[in-house]
Amino acid sequence: MTDNKIPGVKYTVAVVSGKGGVGKSTVAVNLTAALKMKGFKVGLVDADIYGPSIPIMLGVSERPAVTKHNDKNLLIPVEKYGIKLMSIGFLLEKKDSAVIWRGPMASSALRQFVYDVLWGELDYLIFDMPPGTGDIQLTLGQTIPLNGAVLITTPQEIALADAEKGHLMFQKVNVPTVGIIENMSYYLKDNGVKEYIFGEEGGKKLCDKYQLPLLGRIPIDKTLRESGDAGYPLVLQRPESPLSKEFITIANNTVAELGKIDSGKKQDLEIII
Ligand SMILES: Nc1ncnc2c1ncn2[C@@H]1O[C@H](COP(=O)(O)OP(=O)(O)O)[C@@H](O)[C@H]1O
Ligand SMILES: [Mg+2]
Repeated sequence: MTDNKIPGVKYTVAVVSGKGGVGKSTVAVNLTAALKMKGFKVGLVDADIYGPSIPIMLGVSERPAVTKHNDKNLLIPVEKYGIKLMSIGFLLEKKDSAVIWRGPMASSALRQFVYDVLWGELDYLIFDMPPGTGDIQLTLGQTIPLNGAVLITTPQEIALADAEKGHLMFQKVNVPTVGIIENMSYYLKDNGVKEYIFGEEGGKKLCDKYQLPLLGRIPIDKTLRESGDAGYPLVLQRPESPLSKEFITIANNTVAELGKIDSGKKQDLEIII
């Protein structure tokens, strides 16, 4: 974790995955929405330079405005459903979508998206990070001061192997893994039987190996995909659905685990002093 803090922001959490397409953005959006429903002030940064998809998932088409603040130009985040949003996609025109990012360029873009923004007071600022564990992800992980990383994986072996690399990468830069969320855990058939399409208990096994908490399990569900496409997070659209309740449990667990990490740090500090 770097020393620079984002003014007004209490906790910063990166949502990360070793692989793309495992539901990172879907989870980032619904986790943020669940934190909002719990009464927290929340923001979301779409830092996925390879496929910024949060504006679509939140149904946002406008771009941030600019304002002068203490003689500095600052961006005003776009606000939707009470979530303050900045997306790397706001920087890109459609024709730029094939842009090749280099580490320093991605890093300075992200810095601008975090520090030159009038966030106001936020309890949680969630980052949807680019998938993978290469130089770019490492650089971005060091660009922002992160309180923790939440790992998203499917139960499939190849996804787990990549998630494990993600955990080890963040350990290297002293960002604690808050826990693991297993997505696409199973499909609930009409007869009530769970079908484990991508294998069973993969997330749990990874948690056991590294003594990490399993923050929750999300089944494969058509309504979740549809809500993303419609720009209306499921948690807000159908707060009483079992899936939304699972996201609220995940939000509760994330808050609790971040609190534990915090008190652990304070104890370490007391020992040093
Ligand atoms: N649990 C789920 N059930 C059904 N569809 C899902 C689920 N999780 C993600 N999806 C869908 O899978 C696709 C990839 O998810 P996305 O969140 O964009 O992944 P990533 O950000 O990791 O690339 C999207 O179309 C999304 O709606
Ligand atoms: Mg994504």
